[in-house]
Amino acid sequence: MEDEVRVILRDAAAEPDRDAADRFTPAASSKPRAATPIKDGPRILLIIGGGIAAYKSLDLIRRLQERGALLRCILTAAAQHFVTPLAAGALVGERVFTDLFDPQSEFDVGHIRLARDTDLVVVAPATADLLAKMAGGHSDDLATAVLLATDRPILIAPAMNPRMWAARGTTRNLAQLTADGVCVVGPNAGEMAERGETGLGRMAEPPEIAAAAESILRRGAALAGKRIIVTSGPTHEPIDPVRYIANRSSGKQGHAIAAAAAAAGADVVVISGPVNLPDPPGVTVIRVETAQQMFEAAEAALPADAAIFAAAVADWRSESESARKIKKQPGRTPTLKLTENPDILSSVAHRTSGRPRLVVGFAAETDDVIANAQAKRIKKGCDWIVANDVSAESGVMGGDMNSVHLVTGSGVESWPPQGKDQVARALIERIATALDEAKR
Ligand code: C5P
Repeated sequence: MEDEVRVILRDAAAEPDRDAADRFTPAASSKPRAATPIKDGPRILLIIGGGIAAYKSLDLIRRLQERGALLRCILTAAAQHFVTPLAAGALVGERVFTDLFDPQSEFDVGHIRLARDTDLVVVAPATADLLAKMAGGHSDDLATAVLLATDRPILIAPAMNPRMWAARGTTRNLAQLTADGVCVVGPNAGEMAERGETGLGRMAEPPEIAAAAESILRRGAALAGKRIIVTSGPTHEPIDPVRYIANRSSGKQGHAIAAAAAAAGADVVVISGPVNLPDPPGVTVIRVETAQQMFEAAEAALPADAAIFAAAVADWRSESESARKIKKQPGRTPTLKLTENPDILSSVAHRTSGRPRLVVGFAAETDDVIANAQAKRIKKGCDWIVANDVSAESGVMGGDMNSVHLVTGSGVESWPPQGKDQVARALIERIATALDEAKR
């Protein structure tokens, strides 16, 4: 066992410190893992301390997951009096960690790896005892050993009786922890678990803790503090209550861009036509049907630092939408009269005030892809056009791959065929650089 521990510690110590982008992907490991492999999204290690507020930490797990986080969980011995490892494990989707000297945990992950393979450590509830141990640098159980070993940001959500919170010892410990760079959310004022007791000491509510965690994760990210609007998916233009004009756009590329922008720390609004996709994590989703609704939603979402128009907006709609289903009549074929939809990209790009610093359009073409995209960039007044070949043989429409050309004012870059997620990440990287340069 000792040998195994030594090997694990040596491996962990030998692992070079990965850069910010890399931290969102799993570390390669030759060790067998009991844990589910980490895929994408920020990784959070949640340490649940032993207080009555521990039951709220189960809700916190959900709130953090809703924001795209991948969780691991440690329960202190005291926490297990309030929540069971089974309940927390069921929500996290893998077993939780409880014991510093559990050979299985040390072999699978190890406390050093638990401390390092994360982007943030959240302690909720943080009891008076845990605060004292943290401030004093104790490491006599798994939670405190991990807290001492980690070099990642730490967020604590204190929860205790108001007198314990006001006690000089707690004030001293808290001052030490904030001086050490530990972030604090709450506590809030209100009723205590103890009957008749009120005051400052209630753990912050799970959505508050999740929001605090999100803002720490965004700190220093490439698009931190930037607001990005993305349009995505097709639009549906009604003809009558049951029929509509649509197109084959799946929304995969637009949603991937929104997710990549959020992962890079941006405040993202995606305005989406009807799609069969889950909402991108950490993004505000505004659902629309028609081009007119998408136009109004885009205008309302301004101002923004950048706007990316990835939606396949219908160019035309039916001039008049029939309130009743159009009936089939023998010998009479109805004529559909069309009228033009507002061009959202062009209208935002030509704004004289409140124009985003970077406006990016898409050009789905079947012929002369680059030449058409160059002409479109000028005509629409946007800064960049992402051009792609959407001929049937390209498989781009609805597929997972994309082969794009980035047309800017200074030339054309043809990117190799790659997944829509990769295109999204590469585009977001370029956008972050462009916004940064525009600032200088
Ligand atoms: O003119 P075309 O439809 O080829 O232009 C494509 C680009 O313009 C895409 O970025 C699309 O999202 C945007 N567009 C728009 N509003 C429209 C038509 C297209 O924003 N009505």
